[in-house]
Amino acid sequence: MIYIKNNMAVCLALAVLLAVPSAFARSDGTDPLTGRPAIIEDNADTIKRRTGVGDPVAGKEKSRLCQGCHGEDGNSTDELIPKLAGQYAKYIAKQLRNYQAGVRSHQIMNAMAAAISDEELSDISSYFANQAKMKGDGSTTNEQGKNIFLKGNISKMVMACVDCHGVSGKGLTPDIPMFPVIGGQHKAYLLKQLIDFKQDDRVNSPNAIMNRIVRSLSNADLEALAEYISGL
Ligand code: HEC
Ligand code: HEC
Repeated sequence: MIYIKNNMAVCLALAVLLAVPSAFARSDGTDPLTGRPAIIEDNADTIKRRTGVGDPVAGKEKSRLCQGCHGEDGNSTDELIPKLAGQYAKYIAKQLRNYQAGVRSHQIMNAMAAAISDEELSDISSYFANQAKMKGDGSTTNEQGKNIFLKGNISKMVMACVDCHGVSGKGLTPDIPMFPVIGGQHKAYLLKQLIDFKQDDRVNSPNAIMNRIVRSLSNADLEALAEYISGL
């Protein structure tokens, strides 16, 4: 908690988080394991909310080049190229702006992002957000990964991933785009991001929250987490 003291946005999100379980408990049920809101289903309403203000139809044309690597429907095949299918438009847009500003470094993506205008950025983000949400193969048998994901690690001061990324790793609610969809993402991409956060090679999360969270985890822990999360 000390880590995020200065970050109003994260604090606000956590305040929402504390309020949410009680609101959900009586109505459509919570996850029995964690007591947290259950999986956010894809439906017209939730898709619309994560798609945001851009025009997904225009975005399809404008993202031809991107689709070459990220997949026509945002489901890339290369394990090191992230899926964008059903990702929050605002998260995608933030990453593109971070690549443009050099706050997040990757040779290909810095060049790709530099070439797109503000309008293209908004429409392209909405196009990928508008797709059915990325999904893993359902193999969630990695107990070490599952444990850290759901419970964190108190002795290492590690917050549970579920607190921000949701039970199925698809985020908390369709209205909190700050926490990206990670469930069902490629394992190799996830592992690379976790190692990049640990080594401070990626430092664009708000108040370096992700760097702080993974710092004390071992590489074996990160591997186990990537394995578990990619199956969700
Ligand atoms: C030549 C292949 C290639 C092309 C073309 C490409 N990307 Fe990427 N993209 C990547 C790779 C590889 C990464 C992972 C970078 C990293 O590890 O940080 C990535 C990362 C991203 C991310 C970050 C995703 C996340 O979950 O944080 C976004 C957003 C993105 N690309 C959007 C785009 C858009 C929009 C375009 C078109 C303008 C595009 N990409 C074109 C290969 C590509
Ligand atoms: C306090 C909230 C919080 C907790 C707890 C948390 N995360 Fe995150 N995570 C974030 C935020 C915010 C981002 C987006 C960073 C950005 O804007 O670039 C993120 C990004 C990520 C990404 C990068 C996604 C992508 O597409 O590139 C991965 C992977 C990830 N988190 C994994 C985890 C794992 C594993 C845990 C548990 C050990 C965890 N997170 C716990 C807030 C959190």
